[in-house]
Amino acid sequence: MSAFLAYGRQTIEDDDIAAVAEALRSDFLTTGPRVEAFEDAFAEAVGARYAVACSNGTAALHLAMMALDVRPGEMVIVPSITFLATANCARYVGAEVIFADVDPSTGLMTPQTLQAALEQVGDRRLRAVLPVHLRGDVAELDRLAALTTQAGAVLVEDAPHALGSVAVFDNQKERIGDCRHSAMSTFSFHPVKPSPPVKAA
Ligand SMILES: Cc1ncc(COP(=O)(O)O)c(C=O)c1O
Repeated sequence: MSAFLAYGRQTIEDDDIAAVAEALRSDFLTTGPRVEAFEDAFAEAVGARYAVACSNGTAALHLAMMALDVRPGEMVIVPSITFLATANCARYVGAEVIFADVDPSTGLMTPQTLQAALEQVGDRRLRAVLPVHLRGDVAELDRLAALTTQAGAVLVEDAPHALGSVAVFDNQKERIGDCRHSAMSTFSFHPVKPSPPVKAA
C-alpha cells in the first residue's frame, strides 16, 4: 500500500463547469467582456481601484516591472524564500536581484532583513522591493513600505499566497490587494494558490 500527499485540492462545482462551457460557446475565447467583468469583480473583492488580468502570476510580476519602467542595471530586492518568478521578473527587464533574508520562523521578509538588504545596495539605483506573503501570512507592510519609500523605491506585493488575507496596520484592516502600502499587488490562479489548506485524507 502506498500513500500520496495531495499537491492541492481544488473545488470545481457544476456552475464553474457551466461558466467555462458558456465561454467556449461564445464569440470570445480570449479578451472580450468576461475579462472586464472578471477584472471588476476581482478589484472589488480585494478592495483595489483597478485590476488587470494576465495569463499567470509570473506575467503579472513581469508586467509590474515593466509598468515601473525598471531598467537594466537597476536593483530589485526580493526575499530569499519564494517562488523563482519573484526574482526572475527583475531579470526579465535586465535588473539585478538582491536577496533579503527571511525570518526563520515565518519565511517572510522583515523590516530588519530589508534594512540589511538595503545596506547591500550601496550607491546603486534601487527601484523596487517585492515582499512575498506566504501561506496566507502577511509581511509587515507598513514598516516595509516606510523603509522602501525612504530608499526612493517602490513596494510591489507578490501576493499569490494571500488572496483573501486581511491584516491590521495602525488599527485599520487592510485587505491584501487593496494596495494601501504598495503600488501594486500580484496574484496567481495556479490551483494551489487560492485553494484552502489541504487536509490529510
Ligand atoms: C510567491 C509566488 N509568486 C509568483 C508565482 C507565480 O505564479 P504563476 O504560477 O501563476 O506564474 C507563484 C506561484 O507559483 C508564487 O508562489
